[in-house]
Amino acid sequence: MVDTGRSRVFGEVAEVYDAARPAYTDALVAEVLAYAAPGGRGCAALEIGAGTGKATVPFAEALGRASGGAATELVCVEPDARMAQVLRRNTENRPGARVRVHVGAFEDWRPDGRDFGLAFAATSWHWTDPRRRWDLVHEALAPGGALALFWNPQGVRDPALHSALAAVDRRHGVTGAPHGVLASSFGEVPGHWAGLPAAWPEDECRRDGRFTDLRAVRYRQDLSYGTDRYLGCLASLSGYRVLPAARRAAALAETAEVLDAHGGGIPMTLFNDLFLARTR
Ligand SMILES: C[S@@+](CC[C@H](N)C(=O)[O-])C[C@H]1O[C@@H](n2cnc3c(N)ncnc32)[C@H](O)[C@@H]1O
Repeated sequence: MVDTGRSRVFGEVAEVYDAARPAYTDALVAEVLAYAAPGGRGCAALEIGAGTGKATVPFAEALGRASGGAATELVCVEPDARMAQVLRRNTENRPGARVRVHVGAFEDWRPDGRDFGLAFAATSWHWTDPRRRWDLVHEALAPGGALALFWNPQGVRDPALHSALAAVDRRHGVTGAPHGVLASSFGEVPGHWAGLPAAWPEDECRRDGRFTDLRAVRYRQDLSYGTDRYLGCLASLSGYRVLPAARRAAALAETAEVLDAHGGGIPMTLFNDLFLARTR
């Protein structure tokens, strides 16, 4: 069961979210488009839970290139009006697919007879209703249409920082912080990480039975955040949003102290885990 309150907290900090959260790697976007071969099936693409457009922007550009100049459309479904406002700003007057923003939950949206060639969800599939999402996405896709679900979990590279920050998190009841996971614990299998072990959709998709050609890919890249950007990233996470404001402020201030005591900033590994399937 999805905690709807927790799934709708991002708009409280839409601008911080947009500035601080990491992007998705270009290789992932290219892989999805190669798999979906847009133009071949269906007439448009659908994005579920588009947020401020972290995936929308590169996908709209790539879809525009793939269509060879022909008009193509990317329909974005996003329930939070504050996220949608930033999404509109980030996508208007840009080259590529024409982005249409629908403000509402995926569960309340209808394809109205449209057959999408590609549907994708970036760090949002786990917020949709597990009892309905496969029916809904299947209904939206054309036969042979592609589904791409991806996440961008992170892990901290420095075990000393990991331990010092774990103490801060314990004191303040923080759960799900990226520094709560060591990058070295991720292993090789896409979808396996400590943050959202149940969210990886491959088993669910196989059980559904209406999809084929399942694939999973993991990308990784090392990056270092400055303290301010990392605090912004944390402040945009649901695990911090659900804390009382004073507790969140204390947790972030103590996190900053720890980072400063370790030379400032934090070395992380960013993973992009991609799951692909297509309708039979
Ligand atoms: C972690 S954010 C990801 C946003 C964006 N896709 C990205 O990669 O940055 C999760 C997004 O899912 C949206 N969301 C939550 N519940 C949803 C639902 N039932 N249907 C569609 N989107 C939903 C939230 O409003 C939020 O914008």
